Amino acid sequence: MTVNKTTISIIKADVGGFTGHHVVHPQQIEFANKEMEKAKANGLVEDFHVTYVGDDLELIMGHKKGENDKNIHELAWNVLSAVTEKVSKPLKLYGAGQDLLADAFSGNVKGMGPGVAELEFEERKSDPILIFMADKCAPGAWNLPLYKIFADPFNTAGLVIDINLHSGFIFEVLDTRDGKIVKLKTPEESYDLLALIGDPNRYVISKIYRSDGMPAAAASTTKLSLIAGRYVGKDDPVCIIRAQGGLPAVGEVLETFAFPHLVAGWMRGSHNGPLMPVSVSESQNKCTRFDGPPRVVGLGFQVCNAKLIGPTDMFNDPAFDRARSVAGEIADYMRLHGPFMPHRLSSEEMEYTTLPEVLDKLKDRFQKSE
Ligand code: F6R
Ligand code: MG
Ligand code: MG
Repeated sequence: MTVNKTTISIIKADVGGFTGHHVVHPQQIEFANKEMEKAKANGLVEDFHVTYVGDDLELIMGHKKGENDKNIHELAWNVLSAVTEKVSKPLKLYGAGQDLLADAFSGNVKGMGPGVAELEFEERKSDPILIFMADKCAPGAWNLPLYKIFADPFNTAGLVIDINLHSGFIFEVLDTRDGKIVKLKTPEESYDLLALIGDPNRYVISKIYRSDGMPAAAASTTKLSLIAGRYVGKDDPVCIIRAQGGLPAVGEVLETFAFPHLVAGWMRGSHNGPLMPVSVSESQNKCTRFDGPPRVVGLGFQVCNAKLIGPTDMFNDPAFDRARSVAGEIADYMRLHGPFMPHRLSSEEMEYTTLPEVLDKLKDRFQKSE
C-alpha cells in the first residue's frame, strides 16, 4: 500500500449482453453504480465511474491502495458477480457471467476472467488521463495506437519538439504464450519493439514508462482463451494513458484513433475488422453490424487526489466522423471476403472453429497427391 500515490484501476467483464452480444443492459449499470457507491462510502475507493462499451461493463476506480490490491480486486469481482446474479440471470441476458471464469475470488482477478489495467503514480500538479475501452477485439488491439502515441514522431509532435519527451519511452511487452515480459526502450530499440508487437496476437504491450521511469500507460493483457482453454469471447481490452506536461498531449493521444486500424475480433472473435472510435452515448456505443465492427470509447478525466473529475466523451466530436465513415468503408471491404482470410483470422488465432471436426470427417478421404 502506497499512501501518497494514486492508483487508477479499471476492472471489466462481459457479464451478460442485452439482445445477444451487442450492448449492456441499463439495469446492470444502475446496479453496479449502487454497489460501487457503497464502496466509496466505506472509503475503499476515493471515487469511481461505471460505464460500458458494447457488452462490456467497466468499473473505473480511483484509490490509494496501489496496484494488485486484494480488496480492490475483490470489490470488483463481487460487483461483477452480483450484477450477474441480481440482473443478468434474472433477465436471462445473453451469456450471463460469461467472463467470470472462476467459482470464487482468490486474491487477484487476474487469471479469473475479468480484464484489468492499473496504473499507480504520484499525482502531478494537474494529471489528465485518458481511458480507452474496446469491444469485440483482443488485447493486441492497443499495440499500434500505443506505439504511435509514445514512439512515432509522425503522430506525436512532442517526441521531436518537447525536450521532456525527447529521450523516449520504455515499453513493457508481454509474451502471452509463455507469460514472460521484456522491456524495450525507444527510440533506440524501436525496430526490436516493432518486431515483437507487429504480432499482436502473441506480443502485447502491458505498460509504458517515460525514460526517467514515470508511469505513462497501462493496458489489460488478459487472454481469456488461454485461461479457459476454449473460446469464451474476445477479451475486449482497456487501457489508461496519462497525458500532457511532459507526456503526449491529449490531442496526440487521440490523433492515432483517426486511423481505424485492423484488429482481431469482430464476429465470433474470428475476424479482422476496423477499430471504430465512438461516443460513449447510446447512439454509437453498441456492436451491431456483424456483431461490430470493433469499437473503442475514449473517456477523459482530471485526476484530483484520486478523485475522477469527469468524464469527457472524447470521440463525441465531428473530428472523428471521418474515422467512423472510413471504418464503415473498411468494414464493407473486409466483409466482401466472407469466409476468406485475411478477413477470417488464421486457424491459430480463431477461437471459434469447426476445422478439427471438418478435418476429422475428411481424414479418410485425403489421398496422397502425385
Ligand atoms: C464476439 C462475440 C459474438 C459471438 C456471436 C456468436 O466476441 O461475442 O460475436 O461470438 O454472437 O455467439 P453464440 O455462439 O453465443 O451464439
Ligand atoms: Mg458478449
Ligand atoms: Mg464484449
